[in-house]
Amino acid sequence: MKVLVLGGAGYIGSHTVYELIDNGHKVVIVDNLETGHLEAVHPKAVFYKGDVRDRSFLNQVFQDEKVDAVIHFAANSLVGESMINPLKYYDNNVCGAKVLLEAMVANGVDKIVFSSTAATYGEPERIPILETDKTEPTNTYGETKLAMEKMFKWTSKAHHLRYVSLRYFNACGAHVSGQIGEAHSPETHLIPLILQVPMGKRSHISIFGDDYDTKDGTCVRDYIHVTDLASAHIKAVEYLMDGKESSIFNLGNGVGFTVKEVIDVARKVTGDEIRAEIAPKRAGDPAKLIASSEKARTVLGWEPKYTDIESIVESAWNWHKNHPNGFERN
Ligand code: UFG
Repeated sequence: MKVLVLGGAGYIGSHTVYELIDNGHKVVIVDNLETGHLEAVHPKAVFYKGDVRDRSFLNQVFQDEKVDAVIHFAANSLVGESMINPLKYYDNNVCGAKVLLEAMVANGVDKIVFSSTAATYGEPERIPILETDKTEPTNTYGETKLAMEKMFKWTSKAHHLRYVSLRYFNACGAHVSGQIGEAHSPETHLIPLILQVPMGKRSHISIFGDDYDTKDGTCVRDYIHVTDLASAHIKAVEYLMDGKESSIFNLGNGVGFTVKEVIDVARKVTGDEIRAEIAPKRAGDPAKLIASSEKARTVLGWEPKYTDIESIVESAWNWHKNHPNGFERN
């Protein structure tokens, strides 16, 4: 099949492109390179630099490339930034999705898989979290992703389009080839920040709060390898190609680790003492987020391969130690 990947130069997008091409599919990438990297674009993919909000550009791409389905990653995804600049998130995420849907409807493309997030749930009612649980985001980022889900839902009813929304928990790790990995600027995610300590890029890791109601007082998260996320996207496109109905799936390992446990794993993997300091809580951080991914397993037949946290941190370390400046020339 031929798939249009919007945001295919970003972290999860580039890993999904690698997986698609490894599985023999044709890929067209659209990315504005605002947060994505040209170096992360797979050499066998067709690449267009452009913005998802640019209607005439998108129409041209759909006319030139007859694609079977779309995978949509092109969005802003920083929780903190979304609270300071909410309209940036409404513009790129919500308005971007609107323009994309208009172009899909106009060009008769009727299948889309897109990135959603655990942030759509807000403070969970129970653990593990099911797709049917209450969605009450505590930040603008999660709110815009929920708005996108609703836009897909109502548009699908009116225009016979089908969608799969994938709610990721904590994406981490890097491609086995060592060619691509996580490279955000600024970096805000726990695992890459911890690994900056053994790389000599920061003196210590700050632990945001140690009096949460968890086993050691630090936040619990469900860490899922980016290649496992990538394989779920392929399963989701195949599911839509089989004519199945629109749906929403959580993607996580179903196991939670505290911040302190992740730091301990990183100490073991890197052999570095990794100094840690307790710092104030970060606003809006739920104490515990763990996915139930039963639905993705049973309906999509998805099976994560990186099920232990050590192999996940090892794969991240393999990328970061060889690319201390991400995709910039070292
Ligand atoms: N943390 C620290 N110190 C740091 C960075 C993070 O203690 O320097 C803690 C956070 O407080 C949190 C955990 O490590 O408890 C993980 O933090 P990340 O920033 O790596 O990830 P989040 O869980 O905050 O965010 C992830 C995704 C978001 C998504 C969110 C859903 O990255 O896109 O889950 O809640 F919105």
